Amino acid sequence: MTAPDARHISVLLNEVVDALSPRDGGVYVDGTFGVGGYSRALLESADCRVWGIDRDPAAIARGRQLALAYPGRLEVIEGRFGDMDALLAERGVESVDGVALDVGVSSPQIDEPERGFSFRFDGPLDMRMGRDGPTAADVVNTADEGELADIVYHYGEERMARRVARAIVAARKSAPIERTRQLAEIVRSVVPKGKGDAIDPATRTFQALRIHVNDELGELRRGLAAAESLLKPGGRLAVVSFHSLEDREVKTFLKERSSPPPSPSRHAPSLAADARSPSFRLLSRKPILPTEAESHSNPRARSARLRAAERTTAPAFPAPGKEAA
Ligand SMILES: C[S@@+](CC[C@H](N)C(=O)[O-])C[C@H]1O[C@@H](n2cnc3c(N)ncnc32)[C@H](O)[C@@H]1O
Repeated sequence: MTAPDARHISVLLNEVVDALSPRDGGVYVDGTFGVGGYSRALLESADCRVWGIDRDPAAIARGRQLALAYPGRLEVIEGRFGDMDALLAERGVESVDGVALDVGVSSPQIDEPERGFSFRFDGPLDMRMGRDGPTAADVVNTADEGELADIVYHYGEERMARRVARAIVAARKSAPIERTRQLAEIVRSVVPKGKGDAIDPATRTFQALRIHVNDELGELRRGLAAAESLLKPGGRLAVVSFHSLEDREVKTFLKERSSPPPSPSRHAPSLAADARSPSFRLLSRKPILPTEAESHSNPRARSARLRAAERTTAPAFPAPGKEAA
């Protein structure tokens, strides 16, 4: 049985399709299949093929259903987009015309209490998008106070991270923290609600744990590099992100890949030897934001930003740790 999907509204859908500019015969990767909004739009806009990847088995079950409507044109793969180059190579695909990423969680994930992403419902403190690895409960019950504070500070940008970590460690001494409501109450007991602040004080801690549990920033970094190596010259990359930590990763990656190499200098010849030609050309200098109408009709879109770029003929930059000696 597949989970309900009607509630997820794809964000920046037309803008992503415009950025990828799909063509007949083209091959595209939808690295965050979700409820298949982008895949469907790509398949409708050209006679192309789409590989949909998602680490969530519920998304893959929905994808198998959707694939029936596009025989031979949509294939879904359960896995991480950080491995997209290897996942496609295993299936005989060495290069593609476009890659879309829409990072973060889907509405079905947030709205299903059993997944444990939301402090608005009580559920097991899980937060894993896939089926493997430690849960959020494992992290809050085993990480030491310093590590918890770092996670909450860096990934949640929570100024009161030390207080939150101290409260978690104190609470778990009496009983393990296993439910989303338990954790939300612990956080609310030490983080006051700001004046006129519409945000629940637990928001930042929940975001931090979700990013940590799913290694979301590491995945994004690997996914961008994997897309770079998969895209053909002229192929397009479109990435939608929802908070500044993710957007910074995308912006830095594309800035590095699209900047001209430093001009050779008599004084620093080694710089010239290291110079790499840009592997991407930015499609727009500034990120593309949702229209007012979209933000109004879909509040989830408000913080979204799209960055898009076109692959050049230059070789991919070496992946970190794989630099030539
Ligand atoms: C915001 S939703 C995507 C919605 C989709 N664009 C649509 O229109 O239906 C994000 C999806 O990406 C998946 N996801 C997040 N990180 C992932 C990763 N590293 N690898 C594969 N899937 C990932 C999540 O499981 C979720 O289903």
